[in-house]
Amino acid sequence: MTQDPAQRIAALSAELSEHFHRYHVLAAPTISDQEFDRLLAQLQALEEAHPALKRPDSPTQRVGGTPTSDFPTVRHAQPMLSLDNSYSRQDVFDFDRRVRQSLPDEAVEYVFELKIDGVALSLLYQDSLLVRAVTRGDGVQGDEITANARTIPTIPLRLRQPGINCEIRGEVYMESCDFAQLNAQRAATGEPPFANPRNSAAGSLKLQNPNLVAKRNLRFFAYWIHAEGGDQTRHSECLATLGDWGLTVPENKHCAALADVFALYDHYAATRSALPYEIDGVVIKVDSLSQQERLGYTAKSPRSAMAYKFPAYQARTRLLDIHLQVGRTGAVTPVAVLKPVPLAGSTIARASLHNADEIGRKDIRIGDTVLIEKGGDVIPKVVGVDPSERPDDSVGYSFPDQCPSCKGPLTRDAEEAVTRCDNPACPAQLRRRLEHFASRNAMDIEGLGPAVVEQLVEKGLVKDLSDLYELKVEALGALERMGEKSAQNLLDALDRSKEQPFDRVLFALGIRHVGATVARTLAQAFGSLDALCAASVKELEATHEIGPTIARSLYASLPALPALDRVLYKLENKAALQFEIEAEEAAPASYFSSKTAVITGTLSNYSRDEAAALIERLGGKTTSSVSNKTDLLIAGEKAGSKLAKAQALGVAVLDEAAFIAQLKEAGVA
Ligand code: IVH
Repeated sequence: MTQDPAQRIAALSAELSEHFHRYHVLAAPTISDQEFDRLLAQLQALEEAHPALKRPDSPTQRVGGTPTSDFPTVRHAQPMLSLDNSYSRQDVFDFDRRVRQSLPDEAVEYVFELKIDGVALSLLYQDSLLVRAVTRGDGVQGDEITANARTIPTIPLRLRQPGINCEIRGEVYMESCDFAQLNAQRAATGEPPFANPRNSAAGSLKLQNPNLVAKRNLRFFAYWIHAEGGDQTRHSECLATLGDWGLTVPENKHCAALADVFALYDHYAATRSALPYEIDGVVIKVDSLSQQERLGYTAKSPRSAMAYKFPAYQARTRLLDIHLQVGRTGAVTPVAVLKPVPLAGSTIARASLHNADEIGRKDIRIGDTVLIEKGGDVIPKVVGVDPSERPDDSVGYSFPDQCPSCKGPLTRDAEEAVTRCDNPACPAQLRRRLEHFASRNAMDIEGLGPAVVEQLVEKGLVKDLSDLYELKVEALGALERMGEKSAQNLLDALDRSKEQPFDRVLFALGIRHVGATVARTLAQAFGSLDALCAASVKELEATHEIGPTIARSLYASLPALPALDRVLYKLENKAALQFEIEAEEAAPASYFSSKTAVITGTLSNYSRDEAAALIERLGGKTTSSVSNKTDLLIAGEKAGSKLAKAQALGVAVLDEAAFIAQLKEAGVA
């Protein structure tokens, strides 16, 4: 074995990279997972002992790096466009005619590719090394998420051919089984599910902690290269090159005639649910790169390619019943109970019916044969009725005027098309409120899941949130499937939850429009629930990231809080939850208080994250791009377009010395 650490690190890195490629790209590993982990641990230990020898393409980088607080914005070398979309065969004929008319007397061939339902990502390689990964963003500029991209096994940290300078674009996606597993985990911890694999891929890529991204099993298909001195003349050659460099590409096929494209489209339309990942259509691309270039672009998309999309998955089944579901804010939503039917890989027994108006408009009746569709949402929806199959004795559906849970009256909010139960003591609402209160992002009370909540409400042990904190071990231990030990664990978890900071408590109360982020913003801005309830619409609206609509709605719902007064009083005084931010959380008044700052260029004394953390500690906020909401630009060395934009907008600019002077003034430098 080589003893020189530099050589040993290089050899181990190369060996692990090769196994990584074999496992993730070729799906043909030649060593066991255990052996791989052993080699990786060796490399990690060596790198820890010799940090200076750590290489940027080290396989240990895949495990995740340090969390960031914000992603820098980066401009794309050429805009990331989108594709012209269509669902119709006629549009494909028209596309083909336009292409041929623009290239008279030339033979035109196409490449057929699967259209992966994920999110676009641009990768920059310098001297074959991955140096930057940027999301599509608005097409002109996106977020730099290199540390997150490094955790994706099918993104090579180093291309398998030396000396390449190029940009590669492709799609980050999540396989359907990983998506299902992630949502199951989220359900178990009380986090809201992602609607589809695309959203979960997008959400995962934006996580601030690469260690968490590494656990999301993201993957990457490459579909485009722009290489310095690249000698490919056809898109099909580019795909082959991408494969040689160590990337995976979407399933594709060279098509000499349009008829081949249609045959493949029909094949995938019929079999796509058997693929391990979701595709939402196919892409048809002119194969010759020279022809692509001459066809050029419209403002939004290349004229040499189009997306031919699949219709949404649909199925027909019987509507057995309509159930009303009562949410935690009292909104009542109708849910279709269906004769179970297979759709896109799962069995569907329930579907969304939106609201009373929708049922009326579509004249949906119990007993009808309905058409259901799986679009971009978690739950499929009923999109229509087949009246020809309607039973003779069918009657129109009349929306109940009583709450299914508390039997109280239901009211209609015509503007929002929502039906509500306004009884705050309604057991169904209480159950939902308790589930929300206990959920992971709220008070994080382990052991207080839906089954326990249901029993607590049913047995009358809990009539409001504050009763949770008066539960005794004997009463809890008497619940079904709850021994004395679990009862004690739950009481301990309740006790621990009293330490949750004010913003969590605020979120946990389940006030309409107050999600986890808004709760954090409001907690910082107002400091206590009393101050928040006393705020005017203007004050609410002046809060960063609270728009006029939320401000008005909050203002309207906050006075309702005193109705909860007794509960709040008990939560605050008896259970001793945190109803204001702790002294050290409160930012001291400073030059940065309530200012929105952007940091650009290189600071010599601080990293951007450190500078941002200091500004936030002093009551300011940082964002990544300059806009008319920016109060302040901190400009380090080599500040570029952001400085120019800030100057054009008349935004105050601090160079590093002035920034440090202000930090000193505030006593943090
Ligand atoms: S080519 C000019 N090929 O679909 C854009 N795109 O609107 C060139 N996509 O933003 C894109 N699979 O994120 C291309 N095989 C594929 C694709 C693909 C998925 C996405 C891509 C693009 C969107 C089209």
